[in-house]
Amino acid sequence: MSLADAARAVRLNAYAPYSNFKVGAALRTPAGDVFSGCNVENVAYPEGTCAEAGAIAAMVAAGQTQLAEVYVIADSPAPVPPCGGCRQKLMEFGQADTPVTLATTEGKEIRYTLAELLPGAFANEHMDKA
Ligand code: THU
Repeated sequence: MSLADAARAVRLNAYAPYSNFKVGAALRTPAGDVFSGCNVENVAYPEGTCAEAGAIAAMVAAGQTQLAEVYVIADSPAPVPPCGGCRQKLMEFGQADTPVTLATTEGKEIRYTLAELLPGAFANEHMDKA
């Protein structure tokens, strides 16, 4: 299944009764496996857990910690950019040049790299003197 199809399909399972905004994310690992996630909101934490975090959690739970490509889709007028926290989480498991495609359900797509989404990312190397 393509990343776009996986993200589109998982988006339908999003639990978003507070925002009414469903998001789907899918990622491919260097091994070629695809993991997907949707946003899950909660009455006590209505901002919930983002779709990207869900896809990362599924990958890590399956024993993999590298992502080669990411796809995010939502029913928005323009492709929705990942939140700041998700950019950092994606960078943790990706590379500066890892492609991230943001899409709308109507077919608009914008392609970025992780470095474009998070320039100057905080990384392990910044703690070398700690
Ligand atoms: N959301 C995501 O899942 N991913 C994004 O990239 C942007 C926002 C979710 C979180 C929350 O459930 C809803 O969208 C509104 O912020």
